[in-house]
Amino acid sequence: ESTLGAAAAQSGRYFGVAIASGKLGDSTYTSIANREFNSVTAENEMKIDATEPNRGQFNFSSADRVYNWAVQNGKEVRGHTLAWHSQQPGWMQSLSGSSLRQAMIDHINGVMNHYKGKIAQWDVVNEAFADGSSGARRDSNLQRTGNDWIEVAFRTARAADPSAKLCYNDYNVENWNWAKTQAMYNMVKDFKSRGVPIDCVGFQSHFNSGSPYDSNFRTTLQNFAALGVDVAVTELDIQGASSSTYAAVVNDCLAVSRCLGVTVWGVRDSDSWRASDTPLLFNNDGSKKAAYSAVLNAL
Ligand code: XIL
Repeated sequence: ESTLGAAAAQSGRYFGVAIASGKLGDSTYTSIANREFNSVTAENEMKIDATEPNRGQFNFSSADRVYNWAVQNGKEVRGHTLAWHSQQPGWMQSLSGSSLRQAMIDHINGVMNHYKGKIAQWDVVNEAFADGSSGARRDSNLQRTGNDWIEVAFRTARAADPSAKLCYNDYNVENWNWAKTQAMYNMVKDFKSRGVPIDCVGFQSHFNSGSPYDSNFRTTLQNFAALGVDVAVTELDIQGASSSTYAAVVNDCLAVSRCLGVTVWGVRDSDSWRASDTPLLFNNDGSKKAAYSAVLNAL
């Protein structure tokens, strides 16, 4: 195969990309994105601040721009993200307790209803665990509404759109030896044992020198899949874009039958949220980097 998406499709997987609505007028950007990828995640446009700028007033203009571009070009869409401590609108940041809990539920219902039946996977909850060795939940206004906020978010999401796969998504959870990974594993295991509706776990996979790729990522993916959830690499970027590391991540996904696919977090290095790390598969002029060929060969 000659593109990433077509190569991934040979094993029933997708190869996806984060798309920014503001770049859809850049023809270099859109021609690469359309040619190479068959799944799309909105980089920012489906987040809480973008979709509910005022309480109870939903705005899907930017989100729909990304969604419509994706669907018109035959791609599936990953929804990102419904409940998160970051990129909350000001009104939500200032809420707490039962009013924040209700606002979270209303937000999930409002966004999922707009896209009902149209989203392959939703990142229902993003980044709820703390970094470091504690294995604790991250402190946030949502966490302070009660430890059950995550399961309430998932139950709400299942009722709002039963056709979407519901994912928990986080970073620094790729290394099996990290406390954060174990904490997430224990939560998923508990959810599965109690019937909390969770279908998938997203591993962001923002690898850099502080949190590097480790070959035990495959073990992590296998162990989560063994709990009865699908897994996905959801926001892949690698500082320096090492070809061997990119190939290793792809091979890890291919080795796990429940790994749905891989999404890279942007098209060209200049599109990256950490552009100075040159972490992506395409140069700023749109040409393919060595890591691109490594990925294509691995798929
Ligand atoms: C990032 C975007 O790429 C940036 O444009 C934005 O300024 C901040 O958010 N984890 C996530 C993503 O789940 O939503 C983040 O995206 C990167 C880290």
